Amino acid sequence: ILTGEPFMLGPIPRVIGHRGAAAHAPENTLEAICCAAAFGVEMVEVDVQLTRDEVPVIIHDDTLDRTTTGTGPVFERSWKEIRELDAGASFGRAFAGEHIPTLQDVLALCRELKLGLNVEIKPYPGTDLRTAEIALSVLENFGPLEGSLLVSSFSVESLRTAHSLAPHLPLGYLIHDRPDNWAAIADEVGAATINFDHTSETPQTIAAYAATGRPLLSYTVNTAARAKELFDLGVAGVFTDFPGRILKVAK
Ligand code: G3P
Ligand code: CA
Repeated sequence: ILTGEPFMLGPIPRVIGHRGAAAHAPENTLEAICCAAAFGVEMVEVDVQLTRDEVPVIIHDDTLDRTTTGTGPVFERSWKEIRELDAGASFGRAFAGEHIPTLQDVLALCRELKLGLNVEIKPYPGTDLRTAEIALSVLENFGPLEGSLLVSSFSVESLRTAHSLAPHLPLGYLIHDRPDNWAAIADEVGAATINFDHTSETPQTIAAYAATGRPLLSYTVNTAARAKELFDLGVAGVFTDFPGRILKVAK
């Protein structure tokens, strides 16, 4: 289901616009995705979580305070309340009027721009299963994109749910503090990629991930020098807030 192409058949190394292009436009907005596309990336990453009335919306933090004119947990607000908020002004006056998009909005834009999309499921505590269920149902109803689709999460419960509902959908297993049983989890959820934090790994631990045969993606890589090191270690793609910098060393 869902994918326009198997995940890793696109160009390698991949440069993935993090939260769109978070250094250049308000993160996780449609403007940030347009900005990433203008730099020439093939794929963008966004974070999805649920409103109180279970609308999947695109925002990173579990509270509204840092990036919007709202306050408090996203999960305590209805979509009607959230859609009124400004999600651009805190980044810069020129971006005032940007809104928190829904997952559906992002899919429509990625289809229009022919971009690949990595949807990170970012569940509010206790909503891991439901967030995955709802995000997947939106993805399934939307149908294929022209670019690749990858669903990822730090939440093993969300990954398990996604794997059981859509076994053919490529899943990225996001690792922050590497658990001892990471390899078993990757197998259990049928991970297509391992997505690791480059600041907490060594060439040896990266080699151990690579030995599983999965393509590796690394976050959040904001200098060309570090991206080049990772590409030289065989990393297939990086998430970056600065797509222009990294594209220069990815060619
Ligand atoms: O998916 C890579 C990266 O986005 C994970 O970290 O905190 O930026 O969502 P975070
Ligand atoms: Ca993310």
